[in-house]
Amino acid sequence: MENNKKTILSGIQPSGAMTLGTYLGALKNWAALSETYDCYFTIVDMHAITARQDPAELRKRTLSQLAQYIACGIDPQNNTLFIQSHVPAHAQLGWVLSCYTMFGELSRMTQFKDKSAKNAENINAGLFTYPSLMAADILLYQADLVPVGDDQKQHIELTRDVAVRFNGVYGDVFKLPEPYIPKIGARIMDLQSPTEKMSKSEISGGGCVLLLDSPDDIMRSFKRAKTDSETSVRHDPAEKPGVSNLMQIYSACTNKSFSAIEDEFAGKGYGDFKQSVGEVVVETLRPIREEALRLIADKSYLETIYAQGAQKAAATANRTLNKVYKKIGFITA
Ligand code: TYM
Repeated sequence: MENNKKTILSGIQPSGAMTLGTYLGALKNWAALSETYDCYFTIVDMHAITARQDPAELRKRTLSQLAQYIACGIDPQNNTLFIQSHVPAHAQLGWVLSCYTMFGELSRMTQFKDKSAKNAENINAGLFTYPSLMAADILLYQADLVPVGDDQKQHIELTRDVAVRFNGVYGDVFKLPEPYIPKIGARIMDLQSPTEKMSKSEISGGGCVLLLDSPDDIMRSFKRAKTDSETSVRHDPAEKPGVSNLMQIYSACTNKSFSAIEDEFAGKGYGDFKQSVGEVVVETLRPIREEALRLIADKSYLETIYAQGAQKAAATANRTLNKVYKKIGFITA
């Protein structure tokens, strides 16, 4: 059906179980925007293999991630939910765009620098050219908007640079996408190391809350959350990273402002505060977890959704890919 809605594309790597950070930075906004935009939400398994994955785990996480997308409130009938590797145009355009992305640009990517520092024994070529594939993900759908957390902003800027470069040579082939980064929740920090981003690929330290964690586990994580030696609930990320992060989480779940939160907990200790943050997170995630667990058990339903999604996504993606192939001088097969 033709419509005048603007287009959204976004994706999450199935490189680990999705966290509260993934939810507040991205998924929550996907769900909120999914009614008004024409949305493509993908599970980027091709990106995930830039780090070594256990095959059985990857398969399991991919399906579980699809269930969690739906459980977060993204209606699979009105939105296109698909698995990246099911749509070959991503790899195809990714290759083309890697020829229009400069070595120097890729070398400046913070995520590449971070990930290669943490994983010195596997700094593979895919990890380096990852942003060209991400640019392909976005540009294939002529996306207007890309809802992501703060850490993806640099990749979207690079996507725009590559699109401008390509358009400069061949005419207006790609639409230039804008990032959509929430004011609150764009960078949720680890509860144990609040100067580090909460990350699904590093959940070992106990500072990570997963979307599918049980209420008891969530409460335990918040009760143990690192704070500081003061007692006042005050927003000051430089001096009080732990408390400020908890305030950010509380604000993102309740829509309360920082000053309202400071008032609410004035004169109360950190124990009460952590208990309250834990409780709002439990209540935010409870319906998502319940619905996700129900859907994970319904494998044939999930198979139908991703099969439909791949078909719809491929139809759009191939239009852009064909245009690109023509422009650069490939003979149409
Ligand atoms: P990924 O899989 O690391 O994270 C998925 C999304 O969740 C956001 N996010 C967070 N937001 C706030 N606080 C956190 N602690 C936190 N952790 C993760 C991320 O910003 C992201 O929006 N390269 C992307 C995946 C990707 C993609 C794309 C995204 C591939 N192709 C096309 C958008 C469009 C990534 O590694 O995200």
